Amino acid sequence: MKMEYITLNNGLKIPQIGLGMWDTYDEEAAQAVSTALKLGYRHIDTAMFYKNEAAVGEGIRRSGVPREEITVVTKIWYTDMVQGKVRETFEQSLANLGLDDVDMYLLHWPLNDVAGSWKVLEGLYEEGRVKAIGVCNFQKHHMETLLETAKIKPMVNQIESHPLFTQDELVRYCQEQGITVEVWGPLGQGNDLTNETIINLAEKYGKTPAQIILRWHMQRGVIAIPKSVKEHRMVENASVFDFVLSEEDMAAIYAQNTGITKRGYQPGYEW
Ligand SMILES: NC(=O)c1ccc[n+]([C@@H]2O[C@H](COP(=O)([O-])OP(=O)(O)OC[C@H]3O[C@@H](n4cnc5c(N)ncnc54)[C@H](OP(=O)(O)O)[C@@H]3O)[C@@H](O)[C@H]2O)c1
Repeated sequence: MKMEYITLNNGLKIPQIGLGMWDTYDEEAAQAVSTALKLGYRHIDTAMFYKNEAAVGEGIRRSGVPREEITVVTKIWYTDMVQGKVRETFEQSLANLGLDDVDMYLLHWPLNDVAGSWKVLEGLYEEGRVKAIGVCNFQKHHMETLLETAKIKPMVNQIESHPLFTQDELVRYCQEQGITVEVWGPLGQGNDLTNETIINLAEKYGKTPAQIILRWHMQRGVIAIPKSVKEHRMVENASVFDFVLSEEDMAAIYAQNTGITKRGYQPGYEW
């Protein structure tokens, strides 16, 4: 499987396509991870909130792929982002996964004690317990506030972004800051696959709608973590490095932005 890598602001290289793990559990999740790794995936995105860290760990062991080849990402849920709980939650994630370390540890939402939680992540990073640290769902104002007190700049911001909800200003802001954007819901949770422009481009390039969208993400310079538990879709979603979308077609996809997320909130929403 051909794969490209993105280099984070601390030099760490991450596969530009990873496997998302939201909403899959137990044996299905373990099997998905093992299948993806055998196919050539080397980046798995989970979170304590997904309740499948143990299954992810099982899938990694079952695959037989050496641990050091895999970028494992997990996240701390916001209810644990309180004084005295962050380090303990990190250790719990490792225990759930059955791993000695994870590659990247992320704050899941900009809620509760963000500055204090970030300090703990900085400590974990400095102690070499994680290779990279980052955040999720940070709008520009959340990032600006964090950067006022942060000693270490986040290496990534994982945000919702797909053709119908691009969040392009936020993507550009992060990129200008040297913070790599990882997109969640890269396919709009399946919703963007029926967009007419995407379907027309799929016909034009002889690719599937998912491949058109994921190729667009690749050319935007973001990491995408499409979720699938189906082997043929895993192959499809990672097969996006053998064609290039023209500037005009990239623009046509950007033009699908509605500015409205599937979840019903708007950029700049308060929490
Ligand atoms: N940081 C955060 O707050 C946050 C929030 C949400 C998600 N995430 C992460 O981002 C990952 C991806 O986002 P997501 O799972 O919400 O949405 P997504 O990857 O955009 O879409 C996943 C959905 O699309 C289907 N699908 C996948 N590939 C397909 C293809 N080639 N053709 C047709 N359908 C396809 C999947 O079904 P099948 O599995 O049946 O194929 C699933 O229903 C998550 O799994 C999670 O790891 C992070």
